Amino acid sequence: MSDTKTYPIKQFSTHTPHINEEKYLRMYQQSVQEPEKFWSRMAHEFIDWFEPWKSVKEVDYKTASIKWFEGGKLNVSYNCIDRHLKDKADHTALIWEGDEPDQQRYISYQELHDEVCKMANALKSRGVKKGDRVCIYMPMIPEVGFAMLACARIGAVHSVVFGGFSPEALKSRILDSDCRVVITADAGVRGGKTVPLKANTDKALEHCPDVHSVFVVKHRLADIQWNSERDIDYNELKKDMEAECQVETMDAEDPLFILYTSGSTGKPKGVLHTSGGYLLHVAMTHKFIFDYHEGDIYWCTADAGWITGHSYIFYGPLANGATTLVFEGVPSYPTPSRFWQVIDKHKVNIFYTAPTAIRALMAVGDDAVTSTSRKSLRLLGSVGEPINVEAWEWYYRVVGNERCPIVDTWWQTETGGILISPLPGATPLKPGSATRPFFGVQPAILDQDGNELDGKASGYLVMKDSWPGQMRSVYGDHDRFFQTYFSQYSGYYFTGDGANRDEDGYYWITGRVDDVLNVSGHRMGTAEVEDALDRHPLVAESAVVGYPHDIKGQGIYAFVIFKKGVEFSDEIKQQLIDIITEEIGPIAKPDKIQWAPDLPKTRSGKIMRRILRKIAENQVDSIGDTSTLADPSVVQHLIDNRLK
Ligand code: WT7
Repeated sequence: MSDTKTYPIKQFSTHTPHINEEKYLRMYQQSVQEPEKFWSRMAHEFIDWFEPWKSVKEVDYKTASIKWFEGGKLNVSYNCIDRHLKDKADHTALIWEGDEPDQQRYISYQELHDEVCKMANALKSRGVKKGDRVCIYMPMIPEVGFAMLACARIGAVHSVVFGGFSPEALKSRILDSDCRVVITADAGVRGGKTVPLKANTDKALEHCPDVHSVFVVKHRLADIQWNSERDIDYNELKKDMEAECQVETMDAEDPLFILYTSGSTGKPKGVLHTSGGYLLHVAMTHKFIFDYHEGDIYWCTADAGWITGHSYIFYGPLANGATTLVFEGVPSYPTPSRFWQVIDKHKVNIFYTAPTAIRALMAVGDDAVTSTSRKSLRLLGSVGEPINVEAWEWYYRVVGNERCPIVDTWWQTETGGILISPLPGATPLKPGSATRPFFGVQPAILDQDGNELDGKASGYLVMKDSWPGQMRSVYGDHDRFFQTYFSQYSGYYFTGDGANRDEDGYYWITGRVDDVLNVSGHRMGTAEVEDALDRHPLVAESAVVGYPHDIKGQGIYAFVIFKKGVEFSDEIKQQLIDIITEEIGPIAKPDKIQWAPDLPKTRSGKIMRRILRKIAENQVDSIGDTSTLADPSVVQHLIDNRLK
């Protein structure tokens, strides 16, 4: 890593960046030395408050108690919409680019206001009140943003479920947070393929008796079933709704949303984010890290179902009064030039995407890129997984014409917003490094025993203190919050990632150190995939590990033991894939399934995943010590039959 090339800071021809090197160091120092003063100043600068807070920060990692700006009153929807109306009512808030290149919508801040108010009034008409949970299961259309902001407006807590999740996954999320209302669409479409959202919702709701209202946005005029007691045609209802809805006054620490994410054990956790600190963190990072300036066209390609969509399609950009692009489609449809054509069509200045998309497009060849102009681009971003040097350099050279800095942003669903990233005017870049901490963020690297390492180091990435956008709890299970993030190393937030720090203090994220997979930027627990496989009546046991995959970053490799006498066949293999699609969704399909007569286990019965990982990675020469296994001979069989 020390022999990688460093890219010096670029001068933008159009703007002076908000933060330069000297300013970064000064502000960073203040943010950690006088946090109360620093964050007070920022909270006044970025947010409109109805009432001031009583204390800036009350944090105790020993009890996982985290509070920012408690007593302060605000409304997130007001901050994202109403306060901009004075001078921006006719500015474009959302640009929608449909799945087909001839579909687009432009929504001004005034229209956003009216749409959000109507949706908020519709929710109220069905009895939704402050604190109630509302599930949103939507395609990437402007209405997904209207729905989120409508909840925020009336103080309801949204739980967005990614449209690619199965009815089963939707059901368990609805039940876990006791949502009584669902907002969905008749169907979605991605890359020309229909996603039957309403049919999936119907299926999920067979097991959710408490859901009394389902708002259906008619998007595709799809043929759908109708339950007249429960289902509401939103397009019809909207006609009767007023375009004014007073905002609810919320405490900074009132919940804003729940978002489910996978961990190494158990079912997905409902990550709970609150209002004041979260909004401040995403607004500030959006402005400084993407060097957002008035009038910029900004595009983040994530889905609203993930935290990146929450923080950097909607809340961060809208809090700053930006124009943010919402894209329904996929990078490869109708051609692999789509991203670059959309950039030209809407004159996008700031573009934020994932390494898996970059690698897939790189594999298609440069022509698909170079046939487009991309002249409007000023800055590129990357998020979701480590970006390999080759992909970074291609992104820099071919997509950005060596003109645009790349911000490689490290963060997590749990962190709410970006924690480690370059600032374009302040940070020389090293391909593959997320570089340095954002203001107020204090990373540390620990060894196995929890000792903090100095200088150049390699180990577990933790955070020494809180930042405003940090998650506050696991919905309904505060003890799980404590156990998952604060019990490993007392006094630290444990990220679950490994990292190296180089001689310049730059961080290089090496990936998860727990049993969490990152497949095309989608996070899933090995245990979840195993649970799904184990549901097959012929499966006795299974073990799932990740292995390096050229495009996806990680692929899924499953070892499966069948019950006595069962012959492994293509038919069973297909059934296993179907079961995973049903239980989780197509994103969790294994790339490889190997029949295993037995698994390498310790004498106490624990599966040694280290060995399985080596086999999956095809690194059988470095399997290491197997003498602690109950039966070392099982390893040879797995090696001999491994899938390359
Ligand atoms: C995990 C979090 C952050 C929003 C999208 C994913 C990995 C994320 C980077 C990066 C290396 C990264 C980490 C992290 N990750 N960004 N720039 N470099 N790794 O959010 O689903 O909560 O996943 O994604 O392993 O722990 P998430």
